[in-house]
Amino acid sequence: MDRIDARAKVTGTAKYSSDHNLPEMAYGYMVTSTIGKGQITSMDLSMARAAGGVIEIYTPDNRLSFPGTMPALGGVFAETRHPFADREVHYYGQVVALVVGETIEQARDAAALIKVTYVAQPPKSSFEDAKQNPADPPSIPGLPLGEVIEKPVGVDIEAALAASEIRVEETYDVPPRHHMMMEPHAAVAAWQAGELTIFSGTQGPAAHALEVATVLGVQPADVHVVSPYVGGAFGGKAFTWAPTLLAAAASRALGRPVKVVTSREQLFTVTGHRAASSQTFGLGADRDGRLKAIKHHTTSQSLVEDPGYRTTAKFYATPNVHIKLSITPDMNLPAATIMRAPGDEAGSFALESAMDELAVALGMDPIELRMTNYLQGTLIEGKPYSSKHLDECYQVGAERFGWSRRRAQPGTVIDGDWRIGMGMSTAILDSGRAPTAVRVTFRPNGTATVACATSDAGTGMWTIMALIGAGALNIPVNRIKPALGDSRLPLVGSNDMYGAVGSAATSTVTPAILVAAQEAVDELVQHATTAEGSPLFGATGVRYDGGRLVGAGTSVDFGELLTRTRTSEVGAQGTTAAADDSHAYASYAAHFCEVKVNRWTGEPRLSRFTTVVDAGAILNAKTARNQITGGVLFGLAAAMFEEGKVEGATGRISNANFADYVLPVNADTVPIDVHFLDYPDTRLSPTGARGIGELGTVGAAAAFANAVYNATGKRIRTLPITPDKLL
Ligand code: MOS
Repeated sequence: MDRIDARAKVTGTAKYSSDHNLPEMAYGYMVTSTIGKGQITSMDLSMARAAGGVIEIYTPDNRLSFPGTMPALGGVFAETRHPFADREVHYYGQVVALVVGETIEQARDAAALIKVTYVAQPPKSSFEDAKQNPADPPSIPGLPLGEVIEKPVGVDIEAALAASEIRVEETYDVPPRHHMMMEPHAAVAAWQAGELTIFSGTQGPAAHALEVATVLGVQPADVHVVSPYVGGAFGGKAFTWAPTLLAAAASRALGRPVKVVTSREQLFTVTGHRAASSQTFGLGADRDGRLKAIKHHTTSQSLVEDPGYRTTAKFYATPNVHIKLSITPDMNLPAATIMRAPGDEAGSFALESAMDELAVALGMDPIELRMTNYLQGTLIEGKPYSSKHLDECYQVGAERFGWSRRRAQPGTVIDGDWRIGMGMSTAILDSGRAPTAVRVTFRPNGTATVACATSDAGTGMWTIMALIGAGALNIPVNRIKPALGDSRLPLVGSNDMYGAVGSAATSTVTPAILVAAQEAVDELVQHATTAEGSPLFGATGVRYDGGRLVGAGTSVDFGELLTRTRTSEVGAQGTTAAADDSHAYASYAAHFCEVKVNRWTGEPRLSRFTTVVDAGAILNAKTARNQITGGVLFGLAAAMFEEGKVEGATGRISNANFADYVLPVNADTVPIDVHFLDYPDTRLSPTGARGIGELGTVGAAAAFANAVYNATGKRIRTLPITPDKLL
């Protein structure tokens, strides 16, 4: 099914955050620091204040009120400090002032007139330097990230590696990456009678409302987040960042609506990013390719990136494993946060590259090596997976792609100016199902609303809710009106507070639609037999069938029923619990990549990509395929282009625009061949859907890197794989 929101989006009638304009609205423009570390000694606001249309300028000396703590999971997943907390500058691009003006132009122009004087110190902004002296990560209650994982307990991993017949030990590095969603963070905030309404694109409207309420020191019930359309997020809109907090606090201070929009350059620093990481893998195997030992030691700027826990503990069987994360704390860099397949993206690049290196060392086919070490359950606890057909992904993928035509000897396939190579990789991504609530409501106009406080960040949730609602009620999809992207819609518990994260929104929301639909139908039948004016009043044995109430030798459509009973709505809320923990849940894919590398310039190009996906039931092939192709391209962008470049002396991110921070778009790529196996995961839920969104990204860079090796004989262990590395 096509996206039901597609027309609104491509015709411009879909209103994103900054498209909202309110009466009396003022515009806030952020001023950011131009040093990486130090103190603000003075701020000359005189010219800015004298400029036309300036309403107020907030600075560390004229603060906005943020009485609460900065929440995002103990400050680890987002900013730890309030805007304007003090005169300290912790990184280049930190917000140091907010100019509020009558128009965006006036605010921006006045912002340019502010003169900030600093005492600067050398910033600690080089990850290359910082990783020489790492520290243990903080421990966050309830979160397994950062914990040492060892099997058996107390394992001497170096001895286990030394005892292995074949060994590979290498280090793999990834640079900082930035989400760069199409819609930058923006917020329109308005207070009315003590209640705050915020239009702000978010992956979790209720979580966003709670975070804003916490920081502003107001009741969560008094904050209403509206976010029906989100112009991309990728983890960057899971938590709350400065633009929303500034708009909300400035609006409260000024008593008028305030809009704050992040510029593209500011997006690199006032919102989060994927932290750089450096991973050392030691793989030991016997001559038959059985893994005897896996050592995976990572250093990252942040606990957020934990590739060991996320990846290595899930991929391959081995009797000896040691996984450890170290961090480089207190760096003068913008806050790190989750970004599409956090941990997994970097982890799968490293692990799947190392596996390719091991296959070369063994003289073994890379698929055979993976099948030799196939995991039926989780590596540490041995918990069985609910449904796993990764083996079939390898087989079907190899056939579709033509893997048998690959020549194991690198650098041997040449076509004119190009060296051709093939590589493959595994993708595994945890799946799950959080508790949630959905309300299904019948209306007299013949439509039914399916409502949940979840989010559609471009994932297709609007369409999935309509599709599953139509199936559950057995009525045409155009009679379903989905409602999402609003903090006041149904939700339960705290686990689903973050909405569309962890590729779990579809597996979370769709089972609740089934429950809510059944309960709403029960209410409707009850209504049909008891409401005055109903043609089925007093009837027995009334049943619901395809939008009609049937019984007593007659039938009536629910719209007509509600019209005749003068009832505006009949509905019910259904709730579902988290997935039971008798099994582990994950989605799988096998990626196959063909590249050509120019013999004279080193330019690598993608020529073919096939992925075969086992993600449970595929509820809507179009949006599912779209998620996988987008995810694969996301991973290939990391493989080929993306790198936040931090200037050592200043801590400035020097490529903070789309000319220097290059991203591929659909027009740049060859078609990505996506094939779904479509085995419903009925242990996870009655709809059988598992996670898709992030899966395509996992492993994509390794498939590319392995293909580059096969083409050239050059093993590139540092992303991105740019032409200079292939000369
Ligand atoms: Mo995704 S990084 O869980 O939003």
